[in-house]
Parts: sequence; structure tokens; C-alpha cells
Amino acid sequence: MELFDSHAHLNDEAFDEDREKIIQKCFENNIAFITEVGYSEETSIKAVALAEQYPNIYATIGAHPDECNQDIDLSFIKKLAQNKKVVAIGEIGLDYHYETTQKEMQEKYFIKQIELANELNLPVSIHSRDADMDMLEILKKHTISNNFVMHCFSSSVEIAKEILKLGGYISLAGPVTFKNAKGLLEVAKMIPENRLLIETDCPYLAPEPHRGTRNDSSNVYYTAQKIAELRNTTIENVAQITKENAKTFYQIL
Ligand code: NI
Repeated sequence: MELFDSHAHLNDEAFDEDREKIIQKCFENNIAFITEVGYSEETSIKAVALAEQYPNIYATIGAHPDECNQDIDLSFIKKLAQNKKVVAIGEIGLDYHYETTQKEMQEKYFIKQIELANELNLPVSIHSRDADMDMLEILKKHTISNNFVMHCFSSSVEIAKEILKLGGYISLAGPVTFKNAKGLLEVAKMIPENRLLIETDCPYLAPEPHRGTRNDSSNVYYTAQKIAELRNTTIENVAQITKENAKTFYQIL
């Protein structure tokens, strides 16, 4: 079985003590590909460096909405995008969770980065938290030319339908295995086979039975297993379709 963890943060300081060991363990345990996701200039540079170190790790670059509550310089994106291991712009989007949120600023830099992605001919990895309606409005107004994925999708079936109508992919993470997953269970059943991705978003959101511990890419196995159960199929089948989908999405040949 070959799994593709489509969204990881292995450069997180949580892995400073044993990063190489963990990555090796993942590749020895069914993990065939990993996308390391940047969320700021510094983490984007590091994502590209990690991707250069491992043939089956790819990188995304961009500024997370938490970085965009004030003016920032996005010039790193065009520079880093020259590297062949860069497969998407992201994670970018809207995050209204904190009181310090500046909605207009987040929106401005989200749209700027969508335009950059279109110019650079790259797909987009989207982070959306507590911002469903504004997110849909932006996505309807600003066409993303090379596809997009809603990473760690945690909204309703209704929102999932809107995303699918816009041609997007939906990526499920550890929360689909949680006891309070509720609506996510329905989402996991209704996503068309060619629109489903899986991820860990490690070091956060470890799936059951490891909830609450440090997450790493090898745990994408448990998310695949839960989705297989919900969709009445085998984990091998979920692994195969989500790996092929991720390769198509990230344009990995
Ligand atoms: Ni993330």
C-alpha cells in the first residue's frame, strides 16, 4: 500500500529532536509521498529545503491568513516558485478564529496569492476557519486556474457541495476519526472518488487511536482506514485513489 500525506508540517519544531528518524519511519511504513506545507516566508524556504533533501517530499509556499493581518511582502513566492519541487501555493486563505483578525487584510492577501498562483500556473492549498461564507464568495469571484484543495476540511455537507461545484478537491484529516466527527462522516461518504485527498496536518490533529499525541505522516493510515470504513471499501482502495488524486492535483508525474 502506498499513501500520500498531502499536507504536513514536518519542519515544525516538534520534530527538531528526531526529524530524520521520523521521516525515515514514515517512508518505511506505507508512506510513499509527502507534501510539506509552508505558511510564511521562513517556513516556505524551509519546505523547499526539505523537499530538496528527499525525492518523495514536495513543497508548497505561501502566507497563511494569520500572517496577513498586517501588510506583508509576498516577493518570496515568485523567487521560490522557480524550484521544481514547489507544487502549489499555500496554505493561504481566511482564518477568523482569533480576535486579532483583520478580515480586509486577510482577504487582500488571499486574493493577491490566488493571482500569483494563476500567474505561476500552480494549484492552491486553502486554509479556511470560521469563514465559510466569505471564502465561498471569494472563490466564486476569483477563478483559480489550476485547481484548489480545501485542506483539513471541517465544514458541513452543504459547504462541501459548493466547493465541489467550483471544481475543488476536499482533503480530510484526523478529525474524521474523532468521536465528535458528526457531519464530517457524511462529508467523507459524499466526496466523489476523483475529488478526495487525505492528510495529517502534522504535528497537529493526530487521528484516533493516537489523538492528543504528536502527529506524523505515518498516521494518515488511520484516516484512510476510517474513510474506507465509511465508504464501504478497502483501505488499499482509499490509499490508491487518494495517492493518484494528490499526484494529479500537485501535477506530479
Ligand atoms: Ni497546515
